[in-house]
This record gives sequence, C-alpha cells and structure tokens, in this order.
Amino acid sequence: MNYNIAVIPGDGIGPDIVEQGKLVLDKVGEKFGHSFEYTEVLAGGIAIDTVGEPLPQETIDVCKKSDSVLLGAVGGPKWDNLADRPEKALLGLRSELELFANIRPATMFDQLRDACPLKDEIIGDGGLDLVVVRELTGGIYFGERGRQGEKAFDTMEYSIDEIKRIAKVGFDIAMKRNKKVTSIDKANILENSRLWRSVVEEMAKDYPEVEVNHLYVDNGAMQLVINPKQFDVILTGNMFGDILSDEASMITGSIGMLPSASLGSSKLGMYEPIHGSAPDIAGMDKANPIATILSVAMMLRYSFDLEDEAKAIEKAVEEVLEDGYRTGDIMSKGMKLIGTKEMGSLIASKL
Ligand code: NAD
Ligand code: IPM
Ligand code: MN
Repeated sequence: MNYNIAVIPGDGIGPDIVEQGKLVLDKVGEKFGHSFEYTEVLAGGIAIDTVGEPLPQETIDVCKKSDSVLLGAVGGPKWDNLADRPEKALLGLRSELELFANIRPATMFDQLRDACPLKDEIIGDGGLDLVVVRELTGGIYFGERGRQGEKAFDTMEYSIDEIKRIAKVGFDIAMKRNKKVTSIDKANILENSRLWRSVVEEMAKDYPEVEVNHLYVDNGAMQLVINPKQFDVILTGNMFGDILSDEASMITGSIGMLPSASLGSSKLGMYEPIHGSAPDIAGMDKANPIATILSVAMMLRYSFDLEDEAKAIEKAVEEVLEDGYRTGDIMSKGMKLIGTKEMGSLIASKL
C-alpha cells in the first residue's frame, strides 16, 4: 500500500527527531512492503520566518489531503513575544482537522526502571502502563480570551456533546485495557467540571464492566507520583491533560519517551511526541527520538491499521534499550550514551 504523510518538522529539536521517525518508517516500508510518501510542510516559528504566519493555509490543505500527519514540535524563545506565536499553529491544526481526542500512553519499558525517579516499591512488579485520554479541541484552550485594560481573561467551556465524544473514546479504550476509567476534573470549583462529571457518570451506565472513579486534578497530580498503578485510563480535559501527561511521562523515565495520537472521527490522525521543541538541545544530536518513533508506531496502528508493523517498532525500541543504549535524558549508570541519530539508526536496524 501507498500512504501519503504530511510531515511538519517545526522548530528546535523538531527536525532532528522527525528525521529519525521517517528513517524508521522507511525501514518498515522496506520490510513489510509499504511505501510512505512524505510531503513536508511549514508550521510554527519556521513558518513565521518563511511566510510570515504560523499556520499557512497550504499546510492545512496538505494535511487534510494526507492519510496522516507527523509533527515534531513548534515554538521557541525567538518567537515568544509575538502576538501570533508558533504554538497557535498546533491549536489551529488540531481544530481544523477536528482532532478532538489526544491519546497519550505512558508505558514504562522495564529497561528504563533506573531512569524513573520513583522508588522501586512504588513501581512494584510489572512496570507502569496507563493512558491519558485528553480532550483536545475544547476547554480553556479554545474559549473566549482577551485583554480589557488591566485585566486578561480566558474562558473554560465544555458542551455536553464535546464531553460525550471524548468520554466515549476513553471508555472504549478502557474496554480494550483493564476496564478502569479515572475521570479527572475540578468539579469542586468549576461549573464546566461539574457538567463533565455528570456526563461521564451518565456514560458509565453504558459500560457496566468499566469501573469509574473521579478525582480532583490536584489530588490526581499527587496520586500519579504516590500510586500510579491505580490508573488505567485517565480521562480529562484539555489543560489538565496537558499538565498530567507531562507528569505521567516522567514516571516512564523521560518526557522524551512519550508518544501521542490526535484523533477525530475519520482515519486521519496527527502523531507527535508530547514534548516540546527543547530549544536547549536543538540541533545538538542530543534529543531522544523515541517519543517520535513510538508516535510513528501509533500512526501505523490507528490511521493505517498496521498492527504488526506498529508492534515491530515497539519491539525494536525495546531491543535497543535492552542492548543498553541511552540518550542523555534516560541515561543511567553502566549504560551506553548515544545521540539522536544513532538511536534512530539502531532502532531502524532492529526492524
Ligand atoms: P520542552 O518539552 O520543549 O522541554 C522541557 C525539557 O525537556 C527541556 O529540558 C528539554 O531539553 C527536555 N526535553 C524535551 N524533549 C526532549 C527529548 N526528546 N529528548 C531529551 N530531552 C527533551 O518544554 P518547554 O521548554 O516548556 O518548551 C519549549 C518550547 O516548546 C516552547 O516554545 C513551548 O511552547 C513548545 N512546546 C511545543 C510542543 C509541541 O509542539 N507539541 C509541546 C510542548 C511545548
Ligand atoms: C502539547 C503542548 C501544546 C499544548 C502547546 C505547545 C500548545 O504543550 O502538545 O502538549 O499545550 O497542547
Ligand atoms: Mn504539553
């Protein structure tokens, strides 16, 4: 099969890691007899510098016509004081492509136990495996915002339909996993969280096999480090999901390990690591490309239904970790420190 992929390297380490994602995809193509065609498009700071806006219409058009989108990261200090910042491109893509469900699996590879800052007794046997299901096109990210004299405001809104469709994704994923949903909100304070909770409760009736509980986000953040094994599916809104997924990434060893899939109601998805453009290590061959490579595996699984190919990538990552190779962010005593390019090549070579 031939698949058309829109590729958005973006800024900072974006180009470094996307290159490795493509390398691995090409190897999958060779091994399994698929061809992946890439159309590179601009978004973020590089788009501001090249064409004067963070999200050119052409980028949206190419993405809409593609079978899926691979994105590195956008943003950086160079553009931080602009009104139209690079990050706007990401929000624009998510809403234009109607990608309302962001799946962020936090799975710890056994080999990375030493990179996880939590104590052994917290991790226990069997490692860690949870998934954050984050609503991606609503909430405070997309509410009305503005400045009025000495005040600034951002509004947080959710409609019943928006909550229903993300809750359904969360419950459906839970059914294929350990049948437990923890919905995280701030219903003790926020009206939209109270609506969120009631919609989730209502939906729970359709999934009698799924155990459902609710946590306030402050408690949820604390529970993630004291007892992460209680979680199977974390179902939450846009901003809470953003924050909690960075936290969840660290229990897998590094933010450089956590992939994501942004999905809507069609097969077109956008795949990207959850981390940012890491300007502090951009272009230095230091970035961990594994989050991007695992995002490519998610693309094969969710957009192309290529489960064997997705598993092959995940196994290749595991084998390279088993051989003791580490980028700086997951380095521990006795392991072999390597760079972005070598990590990508080693993973590709295992396929
Ligand atoms: P960041 O995720 O870019 O970096 C946080 C820390 O993690 C840094 O120390 C960085 O070096 C490290 N890190 C991140 N990814 C890594 C990797 N693959 N390998 C090794 N180390 C890694 O977060 P930030 O510093 O808050 O943001 C930097 C810029 O990225 C900002 O402009 C922000 O808006 C943007 N951002 C973009 C995205 C995205 O495009 N999806 C996500 C988050 C942040
Ligand atoms: C992420 C990022 C983005 C978000 C920013 C860059 C808009 O942090 O993908 O997690 O907050 O969603
Ligand atoms: Mn984030």
